[in-house]
Amino acid sequence: MNQCFDKYRNQKIQLLDLSREYDLLKNEIHSAIENVLSKGWYILGDYVTEFENDFAKYNNYQYGIGVASGLDALTLALVALDIKAGDEVLLPANSFIATALAVSKTGASPVFVDIDEKTFNICPIDTNKKISKKTKAIIPVHLYGKLAPMKELKMICQKNNLKLISDASQAHGLIDIEADIACYSLHPIKNIGAYGDAGIILSNDISIKEKLLKLRNYGFSQKYHCEILGCNSRLDELQAAILSVKLKYLSNWVSRRQEIAKLYHQKLSSIKSIILPQQENHVFYAYTIRVLHHKRDLLKAKLEESGIGTTILYPIPLHLQKCYSELSYKPGDMPVTEQITLEILSIPISPFHLDQEIELVAQKINEILD
Ligand SMILES: Cc1ncc(COP(=O)(O)O)c(C=O)c1O
Repeated sequence: MNQCFDKYRNQKIQLLDLSREYDLLKNEIHSAIENVLSKGWYILGDYVTEFENDFAKYNNYQYGIGVASGLDALTLALVALDIKAGDEVLLPANSFIATALAVSKTGASPVFVDIDEKTFNICPIDTNKKISKKTKAIIPVHLYGKLAPMKELKMICQKNNLKLISDASQAHGLIDIEADIACYSLHPIKNIGAYGDAGIILSNDISIKEKLLKLRNYGFSQKYHCEILGCNSRLDELQAAILSVKLKYLSNWVSRRQEIAKLYHQKLSSIKSIILPQQENHVFYAYTIRVLHHKRDLLKAKLEESGIGTTILYPIPLHLQKCYSELSYKPGDMPVTEQITLEILSIPISPFHLDQEIELVAQKINEILD
């Protein structure tokens, strides 16, 4: 990769530049697309089945069900588990909105849980406090690629007869075998992503698999026989063929992300005003630091002035989103989430960044915060 440095030397350092991935995979991707086109079969065919099986196997699950997006993966997983109006589902207050929207789409109510300040993931203690008679499931999110406390959550679920559905949309390459159902977005920017919207659901339960196969395809048990109320949410053959090409690289790509995280750790650990992410059980979809003493926005602005991309994942906690105002949460309800929302900053990381670029980002951060 470092031999590419001359080509990329004068480029801005983006959070992620997908054209670099395409440069690397061009020939394989073109031939995968050509294979699908020449076959002339575009919906629910051999390429979808192949990707579903391979992705499930990669993650130590028995069944994979390809769908149209990560939001649909979560929504259909909840529907398959009969979650409905009147039920409550617990999820972390710091996540992408889709985790909560999936719950709302079933008619159930999302109940927000505060996070752990070290891992950024759902806090098991607060999870326990939020369980009510109406609670039916917990959706931990492996935020930024860091494994949520699955063993503790599994015990909480077993004790309270709840389902555990992981939102693994930021955690391709992480081994998460505790969940009843694992849901993934395959959006282009994920650790492996399609060239458009896509998602996949993993489960070991044959009855859940069979229900999901119907749900994603109008509710059909066989063509034109509509057994349950379903929808149209299918992974396309073209996207599946592209994803199968990328799946072969996933382990290497995750290793490169972890290598970059180590490099950041070396170069940034002496700065007093930032807290670095933990390294273990992490596939680094994002490298998110906490910037203390109200310096986050200054750091963000100065990095961007220097041509370095950054982002805030996420600027508004879920319980304070306008769309959830009827749930009557107020500022102060999730103190840890609200505090870290003011401090978090995600800096460039991808398998395609060069060491020199990461070193430059680290050098800038040192200069700005010195
Ligand atoms: C944690 C999380 N959940 C759900 C989603 C939704 O996925 P999609 O954009 O494929 O609907 C995303 C993707 O952005 C995500 O990061």
